[in-house]
Amino acid sequence: MQLAIEQPRHHAEVFEVTRAAFGGDDEAHLVERLRADGLVRLSLVAVEDDEVVGHVLFTDLAVTVDGRALRALCLAPVSVRPDYQNSGVGSMLIREGLRQSALAGFEAVVVLGHPAYYPRFGFSAKLAEKLVAPFSGDAFMAIELVDGALQGEAGTVVYPEAFGIVEGH
Ligand SMILES: CC(C)(COP(=O)(O)OP(=O)(O)OC[C@H]1O[C@@H](n2cnc3c(N)ncnc32)[C@H](O)[C@@H]1OP(=O)(O)O)[C@@H](O)C(=O)NCCC(=O)NCCS
Repeated sequence: MQLAIEQPRHHAEVFEVTRAAFGGDDEAHLVERLRADGLVRLSLVAVEDDEVVGHVLFTDLAVTVDGRALRALCLAPVSVRPDYQNSGVGSMLIREGLRQSALAGFEAVVVLGHPAYYPRFGFSAKLAEKLVAPFSGDAFMAIELVDGALQGEAGTVVYPEAFGIVEGH
C-alpha cells in the first residue's frame, strides 16, 4: 500500500472508489465539483497493485475566529473501497493528510463525520462548538494544526457552494 498525491490519471478511479464507498454518486460528484471550483489543497490516494483503493480530499474552508480568518481546510470526503475497509487505509490517508496540511502551514481542519471515528486523529466536537456553521453536534468536529488556532470566543464556518448546503435547512 502506497500513499501518493492524486494525479489526473487517478480521477476516474477516485470517482469509482468514492461511489463504491458511499453506495451512490453524490460524494463522487462533490469531489469533481470541488476540483472544478479550484478548492482542492490536498488530495491523496492509497494505491495497491496499481489500483486506487482509497482517497481523501482536503479543500479550502472559510473559517473565522473572533474576526480572524484562519488558514483552514475541510476534510471531505474520505473513501475506502469496500473490500479494503477496516484495514487501516482510511486512518493512513487521514493521518498523512493532516501531517501534510500542517507542514503546508494550515492552522485547522474541520470535518463532518462519524463521532466514533475522527476523535482518534485528534478531532474534537468541543473545539468546533463555538463555530457557527450549518452543522452542529457530535459529528461536527475540528482539529488544531497550530496550537490555539481555534481558541477564542466565537467563530464562523462558511462552506463553499460545491457542498450544496442551503443555509437554514
Ligand atoms: C469510514 C472509512 C473512510 C474508514 O476507513 P477504513 O480504512 O475502513 O477505516 P480504518 O481501517 O482506518 O479504521 C477502522 C475503524 O473505522 C471504523 N469505521 C469504519 N467505517 C465506519 C463508519 N461508516 N462509521 C463509523 N466508524 C467506521 C471501524 O469501526 C474501525 O473502528 P475501530 O478501530 O474502533 O474498530 C471507510 O470505511 C469508508 O470509506 N466508509 C464509507 C464511506 C464513508 O462513510 N466515509 C466517511 C464519511 S465521514
